[in-house]
Amino acid sequence: MSRWAYVNGRYVRHRDAAVHIEDRGYQLADGVYEVVGIRDGRLIDEAPHLDRLGRSLSELRIEWPVGRKALEFILREVLRLNGVRDGLVYIQATRGVARRDHAFPKDPTPALVVTAKHTSRPGIDVPGVRVVSRPDNRWDRCDIKTVGLLPNVLAKQSAREAGAWEAWFLDERGDVTEGASTNAWIVSEAGELITRQTDNGILAGITRATVKTICDSLQLKLVERPFSLAEAKRAREAFLSSATSFVTPIVGIDDTTVGDGKPGPVGRRLREEYLRHAGTGDRVT
Ligand code: PDD
Repeated sequence: MSRWAYVNGRYVRHRDAAVHIEDRGYQLADGVYEVVGIRDGRLIDEAPHLDRLGRSLSELRIEWPVGRKALEFILREVLRLNGVRDGLVYIQATRGVARRDHAFPKDPTPALVVTAKHTSRPGIDVPGVRVVSRPDNRWDRCDIKTVGLLPNVLAKQSAREAGAWEAWFLDERGDVTEGASTNAWIVSEAGELITRQTDNGILAGITRATVKTICDSLQLKLVERPFSLAEAKRAREAFLSSATSFVTPIVGIDDTTVGDGKPGPVGRRLREEYLRHAGTGDRVT
Protein backbone atom coordinates (compact mmCIF):
# COMPACT_ATOMS: atom_id res chain seq x y z
CA MET A 1 0.00 0.00 0.00
CA SER A 2 1.51 3.35 -0.96
CA ARG A 3 1.91 6.06 1.68
CA TRP A 4 -0.03 9.29 1.55
CA ALA A 5 0.35 12.63 3.29
CA TYR A 6 -1.75 15.75 3.59
CA VAL A 7 0.14 18.94 2.72
CA ASN A 8 -1.58 22.33 2.74
CA GLY A 9 -4.90 21.33 1.24
CA ARG A 10 -3.85 18.33 -0.85
CA TYR A 11 -3.43 14.60 -0.35
CA VAL A 12 -0.16 13.66 -2.02
CA ARG A 13 2.03 10.61 -2.27
CA HIS A 14 4.35 10.52 0.73
CA ARG A 15 7.47 10.39 -1.45
CA ASP A 16 6.37 13.55 -3.29
CA ALA A 17 5.19 15.45 -0.19
CA ALA A 18 7.13 18.68 0.32
CA VAL A 19 6.89 22.11 1.86
CA HIS A 20 8.42 25.36 0.67
CA ILE A 21 12.07 26.05 1.58
CA GLU A 22 10.99 29.21 3.38
CA ASP A 23 8.41 27.50 5.57
CA ARG A 24 9.10 29.00 8.99
CA GLY A 25 8.92 25.56 10.57
CA TYR A 26 11.85 24.47 8.42
CA GLN A 27 13.92 27.64 8.89
CA LEU A 28 13.05 28.74 12.43
CA ALA A 29 11.24 25.84 14.13
CA ASP A 30 8.31 28.27 14.23
CA GLY A 31 5.63 25.63 14.54
CA VAL A 32 3.93 23.07 16.73
CA TYR A 33 2.94 19.43 16.44
CA GLU A 34 0.88 16.61 17.88
CA VAL A 35 1.26 12.85 17.81
CA VAL A 36 -1.91 10.82 18.30
CA GLY A 37 -1.63 7.08 18.84
CA ILE A 38 -3.79 4.70 16.78
CA ARG A 39 -4.84 1.33 18.13
CA ASP A 40 -7.17 -1.09 16.39
CA GLY A 41 -8.14 1.69 14.00
CA ARG A 42 -9.05 4.07 16.81
CA LEU A 43 -7.58 7.48 17.54
CA ILE A 44 -6.51 7.46 21.18
CA ASP A 45 -7.64 10.58 23.07
CA GLU A 46 -8.14 12.64 19.92
CA ALA A 47 -10.05 15.46 21.65
CA PRO A 48 -7.43 16.30 24.31
CA HIS A 49 -4.68 16.10 21.67
CA LEU A 50 -6.54 18.64 19.52
CA ASP A 51 -7.19 20.80 22.59
CA ARG A 52 -3.46 20.81 23.30
CA LEU A 53 -2.71 21.64 19.67
CA GLY A 54 -5.03 24.64 20.01
CA ARG A 55 -3.24 25.72 23.17
CA SER A 56 0.23 25.37 21.58
CA LEU A 57 -0.94 27.39 18.57
CA SER A 58 -2.44 30.11 20.70
CA GLU A 59 0.64 30.38 22.95
CA LEU A 60 2.68 31.08 19.79
CA ARG A 61 -0.05 33.23 18.24
CA ILE A 62 -0.38 30.98 15.19
CA GLU A 63 -3.90 30.69 13.74
CA TRP A 64 -5.45 27.24 13.23
CA PRO A 65 -4.48 26.35 9.63
CA VAL A 66 -7.92 24.74 9.12
CA GLY A 67 -10.93 24.52 11.43
CA ARG A 68 -10.98 21.79 14.03
CA LYS A 69 -13.76 19.82 12.30
CA ALA A 70 -11.82 19.95 9.03
CA LEU A 71 -8.70 18.72 10.82
CA GLU A 72 -10.65 15.81 12.32
CA PHE A 73 -11.73 14.89 8.80
CA ILE A 74 -8.17 15.16 7.44
CA LEU A 75 -6.81 12.88 10.18
CA ARG A 76 -9.36 10.21 9.27
CA GLU A 77 -8.67 10.57 5.58
CA VAL A 78 -4.90 10.23 6.06
CA LEU A 79 -5.43 7.16 8.24
CA ARG A 80 -7.81 5.65 5.71
CA LEU A 81 -5.51 6.32 2.75
CA ASN A 82 -2.61 4.70 4.60
CA GLY A 83 -4.69 1.86 6.02
CA VAL A 84 -3.26 2.41 9.49
CA ARG A 85 -4.74 0.14 12.17
CA ASP A 86 -1.92 0.44 14.70
CA GLY A 87 0.51 3.32 14.64
CA LEU A 88 0.28 7.06 14.88
CA VAL A 89 -0.85 10.18 13.11
CA TYR A 90 1.48 13.19 13.07
CA ILE A 91 0.13 16.74 12.78
CA GLN A 92 2.42 19.71 12.19
CA ALA A 93 1.29 23.32 11.94
CA THR A 94 3.70 26.17 11.29
CA ARG A 95 3.39 29.92 10.89
CA GLY A 96 3.72 29.34 7.16
CA VAL A 97 5.95 30.57 4.36
CA ALA A 98 7.57 34.00 4.41
CA ARG A 99 10.81 35.75 3.49
CA ARG A 100 13.20 34.91 6.30
CA ASP A 101 12.95 37.33 9.22
CA HIS A 102 12.79 36.39 12.89
CA ALA A 103 9.78 38.62 13.59
CA PHE A 104 6.31 37.41 12.55
CA PRO A 105 5.37 38.08 8.92
CA LYS A 106 2.30 40.22 8.24
CA ASP A 107 -0.86 38.12 7.66
CA PRO A 108 0.85 34.72 7.48
CA THR A 109 -1.02 31.70 6.14
CA PRO A 110 -0.33 28.86 8.56
CA ALA A 111 0.85 25.60 7.01
CA LEU A 112 -0.45 22.12 7.85
CA VAL A 113 1.07 18.71 7.27
CA VAL A 114 -0.47 15.41 8.39
CA THR A 115 1.26 12.05 8.02
CA ALA A 116 0.57 8.58 9.41
CA LYS A 117 2.80 5.68 10.30
CA HIS A 118 2.24 1.98 10.99
CA THR A 119 3.81 0.37 14.03
CA SER A 120 3.60 -3.18 15.28
CA ARG A 121 0.79 -3.80 17.73
CA PRO A 122 2.34 -3.80 21.20
CA GLY A 123 0.82 -6.01 23.88
CA ILE A 124 0.68 -5.83 27.66
CA ASP A 125 3.90 -7.71 28.22
CA VAL A 126 7.02 -5.76 27.36
CA PRO A 127 10.53 -6.36 28.64
CA GLY A 128 11.02 -2.80 29.93
CA VAL A 129 13.54 -0.20 28.83
CA ARG A 130 16.59 1.56 30.23
CA VAL A 131 16.96 5.31 30.64
CA VAL A 132 19.97 7.54 31.21
CA SER A 133 19.96 10.92 32.96
CA ARG A 134 21.02 14.06 31.13
CA PRO A 135 20.94 17.77 32.08
CA ASP A 136 17.73 19.56 31.10
CA ASN A 137 19.09 22.24 28.80
CA ARG A 138 15.76 23.21 27.20
CA TRP A 139 13.96 26.55 27.30
CA ASP A 140 11.40 27.56 29.93
CA ARG A 141 8.26 26.83 27.83
CA CYS A 142 8.41 23.05 27.60
CA ASP A 143 4.62 23.09 28.04
CA ILE A 144 4.33 24.15 24.37
CA LYS A 145 4.68 21.24 21.96
CA THR A 146 6.91 22.99 19.45
CA VAL A 147 8.95 21.42 16.67
CA GLY A 148 12.05 23.04 18.23
CA LEU A 149 13.36 19.75 19.59
CA LEU A 150 17.15 19.93 19.37
CA PRO A 151 17.90 19.32 23.08
CA ASN A 152 15.44 16.38 22.96
CA VAL A 153 17.07 15.05 19.78
CA LEU A 154 20.57 15.25 21.27
CA ALA A 155 19.51 13.72 24.59
CA LYS A 156 17.70 10.85 22.84
CA GLN A 157 20.68 10.20 20.59
CA SER A 158 23.06 10.15 23.55
CA ALA A 159 20.72 7.69 25.30
CA ARG A 160 20.73 5.43 22.26
CA GLU A 161 24.53 5.62 22.09
CA ALA A 162 24.61 4.57 25.77
CA GLY A 163 22.41 1.56 24.95
CA ALA A 164 19.29 3.07 26.55
CA TRP A 165 15.89 3.86 25.04
CA GLU A 166 15.17 7.17 26.70
CA ALA A 167 16.95 10.10 28.36
CA TRP A 168 15.52 11.59 31.56
CA PHE A 169 16.16 15.30 31.88
CA LEU A 170 17.43 16.62 35.24
CA ASP A 171 16.88 20.19 36.40
CA GLU A 172 19.54 22.12 38.32
CA ARG A 173 18.31 20.61 41.61
CA GLY A 174 18.84 17.09 40.37
CA ASP A 175 15.11 16.45 39.98
CA VAL A 176 13.79 14.54 37.00
CA THR A 177 11.62 16.75 34.79
CA GLU A 178 10.59 14.34 32.01
CA GLY A 179 12.01 12.22 29.21
CA ALA A 180 13.13 13.45 25.79
CA SER A 181 9.76 12.35 24.38
CA THR A 182 7.89 10.89 27.37
CA ASN A 183 6.68 11.73 30.89
CA ALA A 184 8.38 10.14 33.89
CA TRP A 185 6.86 8.18 36.77
CA ILE A 186 8.11 6.23 39.78
CA VAL A 187 6.74 4.11 42.61
CA SER A 188 8.95 5.23 45.49
CA GLU A 189 10.66 3.06 48.09
CA ALA A 190 7.70 3.85 50.38
CA GLY A 191 5.20 2.75 47.70
CA GLU A 192 4.09 6.27 46.65
CA LEU A 193 3.13 6.65 42.98
CA ILE A 194 4.74 9.89 41.81
CA THR A 195 4.93 11.96 38.66
CA ARG A 196 6.15 15.52 38.39
CA GLN A 197 3.52 18.28 38.53
CA THR A 198 2.76 20.02 35.23
CA ASP A 199 3.93 23.59 34.69
CA ASN A 200 6.14 25.33 32.11
CA GLY A 201 8.93 22.86 32.85
CA ILE A 202 7.34 19.83 31.16
CA LEU A 203 4.83 18.87 28.52
CA ALA A 204 1.43 18.07 30.01
CA GLY A 205 1.24 14.62 28.40
CA ILE A 206 -2.15 13.44 27.21
CA THR A 207 -1.17 9.88 28.16
CA ARG A 208 -0.15 11.21 31.57
CA ALA A 209 -3.61 12.76 32.01
CA THR A 210 -5.33 9.53 30.98
CA VAL A 211 -3.17 7.49 33.36
CA LYS A 212 -4.11 9.95 36.10
CA THR A 213 -7.79 9.21 35.45
CA ILE A 214 -7.03 5.48 35.46
CA CYS A 215 -5.30 5.89 38.84
CA ASP A 216 -8.46 7.55 40.19
CA SER A 217 -10.65 4.74 38.91
CA LEU A 218 -8.34 2.14 40.49
CA GLN A 219 -8.24 4.19 43.70
CA LEU A 220 -4.50 4.38 43.33
CA LYS A 221 -3.20 7.50 45.06
CA LEU A 222 -1.03 9.61 42.79
CA VAL A 223 1.25 12.33 44.12
CA GLU A 224 2.26 15.07 41.69
CA ARG A 225 5.57 16.41 42.91
CA PRO A 226 9.21 16.61 41.88
CA PHE A 227 11.35 13.55 42.51
CA SER A 228 15.12 13.40 42.41
CA LEU A 229 17.31 11.08 40.38
CA ALA A 230 18.51 9.54 43.65
CA GLU A 231 14.90 8.82 44.70
CA ALA A 232 14.20 7.29 41.28
CA LYS A 233 17.21 5.02 41.58
CA ARG A 234 15.93 3.74 44.93
CA ALA A 235 12.37 3.36 43.62
CA ARG A 236 10.48 0.07 43.51
CA GLU A 237 9.33 0.84 39.98
CA ALA A 238 9.75 3.40 37.26
CA PHE A 239 7.93 3.84 33.99
CA LEU A 240 7.33 6.32 31.21
CA SER A 241 4.27 7.40 29.26
CA SER A 242 3.55 8.85 25.84
CA ALA A 243 1.12 8.56 22.96
CA THR A 244 3.40 6.10 21.17
CA SER A 245 4.94 4.15 24.06
CA PHE A 246 1.71 4.07 26.13
CA VAL A 247 2.92 3.07 29.61
CA THR A 248 6.31 1.39 29.38
CA PRO A 249 8.18 0.01 32.39
CA ILE A 250 11.75 1.13 33.06
CA VAL A 251 14.15 -1.52 34.34
CA GLY A 252 17.35 0.52 34.61
CA ILE A 253 18.35 4.13 35.28
CA ASP A 254 21.97 4.95 34.39
CA ASP A 255 23.91 2.05 35.93
CA THR A 256 21.26 1.25 38.54
CA THR A 257 18.76 -1.58 38.25
CA VAL A 258 15.21 -0.54 39.13
CA GLY A 259 13.55 -2.91 41.62
CA ASP A 260 14.36 -6.48 40.66
CA GLY A 261 15.13 -5.50 37.07
CA LYS A 262 11.73 -6.62 35.78
CA PRO A 263 8.58 -4.59 35.02
CA GLY A 264 6.77 -3.96 38.31
CA PRO A 265 3.10 -4.63 39.14
CA VAL A 266 1.91 -0.98 39.17
CA GLY A 267 3.44 -0.13 35.80
CA ARG A 268 2.14 -3.35 34.33
CA ARG A 269 -1.37 -2.75 35.63
CA LEU A 270 -1.43 0.83 34.36
CA ARG A 271 -0.22 -0.34 30.94
CA GLU A 272 -2.96 -2.95 30.86
CA GLU A 273 -5.64 -0.41 31.83
CA TYR A 274 -4.29 2.14 29.37
CA LEU A 275 -4.46 -0.39 26.54
CA ARG A 276 -8.02 -1.18 27.58
CA HIS A 277 -8.83 2.54 27.43
CA ALA A 278 -7.18 2.75 23.97
CA GLY A 279 -9.55 0.06 22.77
CA THR A 280 -12.64 2.19 23.45
CA GLY A 281 -13.99 4.84 21.08
CA ASP A 282 -15.01 4.76 17.45
CA ARG A 283 -13.08 2.89 14.80
CA VAL A 284 -11.92 5.20 12.02
CA THR A 285 -10.08 2.65 9.86
N1 PDD B 1 6.17 13.02 22.52
N2 PDD B 1 7.15 14.92 27.08
C1 PDD B 1 7.69 15.21 25.89
C2 PDD B 1 8.90 16.09 25.84
C3 PDD B 1 7.12 14.70 24.72
O1 PDD B 1 7.66 14.99 23.52
C4 PDD B 1 6.00 13.84 24.81
C5 PDD B 1 5.33 13.28 23.59
C6 PDD B 1 5.47 13.56 26.09
C7 PDD B 1 4.25 12.69 26.28
O2 PDD B 1 3.11 13.35 25.82
P1 PDD B 1 1.86 12.54 25.25
O3 PDD B 1 1.46 11.59 26.31
O4 PDD B 1 0.84 13.58 24.99
O5 PDD B 1 2.33 11.81 24.01
C8 PDD B 1 6.07 14.13 27.19
C9 PDD B 1 5.63 12.58 21.25
C10 PDD B 1 5.03 11.21 21.32
C11 PDD B 1 6.69 12.73 20.19
O6 PDD B 1 7.37 13.75 20.23
O7 PDD B 1 6.82 11.87 19.30
